[in-house]
Amino acid sequence: MKRIFFVLIFAILAVDAVAGFEESKKCQKCHPIIYDEFYGSSHRKSSVYTDPIHKAVWDKHPLKTQEKYTCAVCHTPADKELLKRLEEGKPALPQANEAQLEEGISCVSCHTIESIEIHEKANKNILSTKPKTLFSAREGQENEKNVQLKTTSSFFGMFSQKSGSPYHTIDYSNKGFYNGDMCMGCHSHKQNAHKFEVCTTTQAKDTNNTKGNCISCHMPSVKGTMNTIHKTDMHIYHGFTGASNSPKMLAQYVKIAFNQSNEGFEVSIKNEATHPLFLHPLRVAQLQVTVASKDQNIILEPITFKRVIGANKKQSMPWLADSIVTDTQIQNNENRKVLFDHKLQIGDTVEVKMGFYILSKVSSKKLGLDSDKELSKFILLKKETFTVE
Ligand code: HEC
Ligand code: HEC
Ligand code: HEC
Ligand code: HEC
Ligand code: HEC
Repeated sequence: MKRIFFVLIFAILAVDAVAGFEESKKCQKCHPIIYDEFYGSSHRKSSVYTDPIHKAVWDKHPLKTQEKYTCAVCHTPADKELLKRLEEGKPALPQANEAQLEEGISCVSCHTIESIEIHEKANKNILSTKPKTLFSAREGQENEKNVQLKTTSSFFGMFSQKSGSPYHTIDYSNKGFYNGDMCMGCHSHKQNAHKFEVCTTTQAKDTNNTKGNCISCHMPSVKGTMNTIHKTDMHIYHGFTGASNSPKMLAQYVKIAFNQSNEGFEVSIKNEATHPLFLHPLRVAQLQVTVASKDQNIILEPITFKRVIGANKKQSMPWLADSIVTDTQIQNNENRKVLFDHKLQIGDTVEVKMGFYILSKVSSKKLGLDSDKELSKFILLKKETFTVE
């Protein structure tokens, strides 16, 4: 018994030494707030075990019968074993291991992205091999490549101040962590076997842009310390605002305006994102308008915006698609005007709701997910009320 026990402990230690540094749980101790946000994010829940939509699409995908889970490069880069099997051309199906269950895209998966290789099919993340070195951004330290734990004393040694991390080295010199390029290995675009681009995320042209980019919009600065050792007031949000997590934090980038005319009225939606308002072909955006008059509430016909992909002018699964069937999605920087031929009276109030469905009715049926009410409910992005004078 004793021997088995020892062997077991040894085995756990050995696994720990290999997985060791990579595990996001190791970062939790000193970065608990960031870890909690990450834990609820779609980057953590990106595997077939943690994302029901991803699983439903994978279950129908032809690569499943070929045992090639190529989705791993973007959806579960933390599963190094699976990536190795893919590279060696061995059967590679996701197994219920720690990486798949706990951290599809781990802290280290992102913080070691050294550069992005541009490819037609999909870009590729080039990871740094420098041991225990993580990339990050910090204003004023853009040239510091090798920040380690250090104590600086000042005033003849009366005051001492510690800086750096006891667990890892920090490299602040990677431009991609300032301008958002580090997101583009996975998010830029993806072509299917028909050379058709299933999804595309456009980035601002200006590569020195450190304000209006993926990071500044989707990872805003929020209250709470960045680490437990050198306390800070704010930290960068790691829940990744988006369709599945805290969309309201993005409402400021969508502007709603109202204009009355002789025939009725006009509502305009301005999308200030650097990409179309919604990106995934499964999403359906919707504008809902209600007019409240003295004696009644009138719900007008909702307007939907979507990008439907398919073949032969019919919607299809992404791997079969070779063209766009319809695209009414609101483009980057577009101010979409929608006319309503409903005559208004003085004193009427017009309630305008802009929101979306994670899955369209058609897709949720096709994927067998129509019983999951969370996935097919209307999610509000922004609401405005206008009174007719
Ligand atoms: C080049 C990187 C890349 C590869 C490879 C990739 N994906 Fe994705 N996938 C993404 C990104 C980025 C998103 C999030 C984008 C968004 O929501 O608009 C995403 C989102 C999804 C979603 C929507 C998830 C949700 O919760 O709504 C599904 C479904 C999906 N992918 C399926 C797959 C399948 C199946 C494969 C493998 C056959 C695959 N993807 C391969 C990058 C990739
Ligand atoms: C999807 C990619 C991604 C993932 C996953 C990710 N990060 Fe980050 N992280 C970033 C980016 C981008 C920044 C902002 C630029 C910078 O400061 O590095 C950042 C910033 C940080 C910062 C500095 C925050 C501040 O307020 O200055 C810390 C600390 C950090 N991350 C730790 C973590 C930890 C710990 C995890 C896992 C629990 C994690 N990150 C997961 C991309 C990621
Ligand atoms: C033992 C504590 C400890 C552990 C464990 C730890 N860190 Fe840190 N980390 C720190 C401290 C302290 C800082 C702040 C350094 C400074 O302010 O000079 C830091 C800073 C960072 C930064 C740079 C923040 C910035 O922009 O200035 C990133 C990124 C980061 N850590 C990621 C991680 C990741 C990922 C892990 C897990 C692999 C991890 N850390 C584990 C203590 C830790
Ligand atoms: C290693 C690949 C990878 C990197 C790097 C990456 N992402 Fe993602 N991202 C994904 C995948 C895959 C998903 C979809 C996960 C799912 O839902 O199954 C996703 C989801 C998201 C979502 C949620 C979309 C939704 O519908 O809610 C946002 C927002 C997002 N990413 C922003 C970013 C930003 C900003 C960066 C850069 C700081 C980044 N990502 C870096 C792969 C990546
Ligand atoms: C000016 C702000 C802004 C910038 C810059 C920006 N986004 Fe967005 N993003 C938004 C808004 C607004 C939405 C729509 C609201 C939502 O999804 O909840 C959105 C949605 C998304 C989604 C979810 C789309 C879907 O269909 O589920 C992803 C993924 C995403 N952005 C990734 C990125 C990436 C990657 C970059 C950098 C190339 C980027 N964003 C740049 C504001 C921005």
